[in-house]
Amino acid sequence: MQTINQLDALRAALEPLRRDGPLALVPTMGALHEGHLALVRAARERAAHVVVSIFVNPRQFAANEDLASYPRQPQADAALLAAEGVSVLWLPSAEAIYPAGYATTVSVSGVSDGLCGAVRPGHFDGVATVVLKLFNQVSPDIALFGEKDWQQLAVIRRMARDLDLTRPAAPAIIGVPTVREADDLARSSRNAYLTVEQRAAAPELPAAMRAALAAIVGGAKVATALESLSDRLLDAGFASIDYAELRDAETLELIDTPGTRPARLLVAARIGKARLIDNMPLG
Ligand code: PAJ
Repeated sequence: MQTINQLDALRAALEPLRRDGPLALVPTMGALHEGHLALVRAARERAAHVVVSIFVNPRQFAANEDLASYPRQPQADAALLAAEGVSVLWLPSAEAIYPAGYATTVSVSGVSDGLCGAVRPGHFDGVATVVLKLFNQVSPDIALFGEKDWQQLAVIRRMARDLDLTRPAAPAIIGVPTVREADDLARSSRNAYLTVEQRAAAPELPAAMRAALAAIVGGAKVATALESLSDRLLDAGFASIDYAELRDAETLELIDTPGTRPARLLVAARIGKARLIDNMPLG
C-alpha cells in the first residue's frame, strides 16, 4: 500500500493502476472500524484497486462541534487498510484540499435541508464540497458510502445526478448496509465518546427504532410511534432527541402516513458527549 499526501504524486501513482481495471474510492475521516472496513471489502469485490482517503474535513464541522476532539489514529488506520489489500491511502494535507484562497462551496438543496442538515447548518455543504473534490482528485470508477449516513448518501446521489457525475466521466455511487455491534448499536467513530454506562444504554436507540417500526407496520399512527420512541430514549438516559422522523427513502420528504414508496426511519439522539444517528427501512 502506498501512502500519499500530495495531489501530483497521487495522480502519478493512480495512472498505472487504472490499466488493471476499475478503480474504487472509499472516502473516510479515519478512526476506522468494521463499518469502514465493510466498505473497503465491498470495494475490493468490485474493483481492481481501492483508494481510501482519510481527511477530517473541517468544513463539515460547525464551530461548536467536535473537530478538535475527533479521533485521529493514522498509523493504526494505515495498518488496517494495508491488511485489507488497499492499494493507495490518500492522506491529503489540509493545503491539498483547501489551498490558500480556496473559495468554492457545493450546496445540494432539498435533501440537505431537514434531519442532520437542520441541526448541523452547513454540514452537508462541507460534505458535498469535499466529496466532489475527492472525486476530481481520484477520478474513481466507483465510490462507496455507508447507509449508516443515509442522508449523506442521498445528498451525494443527488449531487452525482445533478452535476452529471455519471460514468464514464465519473463514479457510480454504491451504498453499503450499516455494520452493527453484537448488541445492534451502529458502529461509529463517535461511539468512542461514550462512558461505560452510556455505552450500555446506547443500544436502546436501535431497539426503540425497531419497536416503532413494528408498531407502524402494525397500524399505529406514525406520530404516536415516534413519541413513544423519544420517550423510551429519554427514559434510558439519552439527554435529547435531535429528530425522529419517517421520510421517503430517496427524496427524504416527510411521511405522516406510510404509502407504497419505500420509507425510512431516521433518528439522531444525544447521550453524554456523543450524538448518535441511525436509520432503518420501514417494513
Ligand atoms: P466517516 O464518518 O469516517 O465515514 C466514512 C464512510 O463510512 C461513510 O460512507 C459512512 O457512511 C461509512 N460508515 C460509517 N459507519 C458505518 C457503519 N456502521 N456501517 C457502514 N458504513 C459506515 O462519512 C464521512 O466519514 C464523511 O462525511 C466523508 C464522506 C468522508 C466526507 O468527509
